[in-house]
Amino acid sequence: MSTVSTKTGSSEAHSKLILVGEHAVVYGKPAIAVPFPLKVKAVVEQSSGKIMFESKIYNGSIDNMPMKMKGIEVCIKETLDSLKEPFENLRIRVESSIPLGRGLGSSAAIAIAIVRSLFSFYEKKPSQEQLFSLVRISETYAHGKPSGIDTAAELSECPIWFQKGKEIVSLITGDPLYLVVADTGRIGDTHTAVDNVRKKYLVETREVEKSLDEIAKIAELAREALLSGDMYLLGSLLYRNHEELKVLGVSDDGLDTLIEAARNAGALGAKLTGGGLGGCMIAIGKDLEHAEVIAKQLMKAGASKSWYFSSEDNILYVTEGEKE
Ligand code: PMV
Repeated sequence: MSTVSTKTGSSEAHSKLILVGEHAVVYGKPAIAVPFPLKVKAVVEQSSGKIMFESKIYNGSIDNMPMKMKGIEVCIKETLDSLKEPFENLRIRVESSIPLGRGLGSSAAIAIAIVRSLFSFYEKKPSQEQLFSLVRISETYAHGKPSGIDTAAELSECPIWFQKGKEIVSLITGDPLYLVVADTGRIGDTHTAVDNVRKKYLVETREVEKSLDEIAKIAELAREALLSGDMYLLGSLLYRNHEELKVLGVSDDGLDTLIEAARNAGALGAKLTGGGLGGCMIAIGKDLEHAEVIAKQLMKAGASKSWYFSSEDNILYVTEGEKE
């Protein structure tokens, strides 16, 4: 009679939204990120032979993973190494509701869920430092030189103030944030966007530096607005931040159209979020009903999907299929 092993390890991770400061954060400026309730779950089970990976985008042996998943493969190897466990006899299943390449931090969230579930399978718990350094391996493949904001925000249950090399500060908001997120439906390429800013910096140093300094100022003011619950001021800062992201060359017509649609729907603020050049944008509503109105308008303006939620309870509402 064969015995079936029921040993499993599982874990979840949530995605993130950058409220202000993306790209400038790569140059050491501060940024604010908030948890976004779209989640990924990883389950590790006992099996025999090579490590098998199951997901929507790839099913098969971990040794034959496509190049774009190399970071995950190396991250799994390093995690097993740090656990002093062999690289075999496992099945890793990943179920994610986070769209890939949309500036929502899907790659870091997948890596966090996998690392945590491997530790849980071996009945251990990683320290925050271990999680950071293991997830960084995967992020380096995905992004080149990540600032680390995605991982930090996805390991936090509340908004964070993030600056490379400095302590991460949790921000307790004065009032709930009513956030809308809309997907352009096009994959954003963070790697290319970060690279484009770097190239621009080399040839238009003064202009780019001016923009990065302005984004840093916006982040400082946004922190005060968030802490005091001044959502009108916060909103205006988001619009200003988007203008600077345009100067850096990381927005595009699709994103700009959605930001204008949010403005026309009375959003307190709107901007692209994450790497840009496709991907997602965010907007701030006055309350949950207003957030719903904005989310619907964004669908009419061409978004492939939109979500809205209050940071108070993190219940996520989807407005898929509301297109005219
Ligand atoms: O596109 P995302 O969700 O991975 O966000 C990247 C944020 C950047 O500031 C553009 C890059 C970084 O490493 O901080």
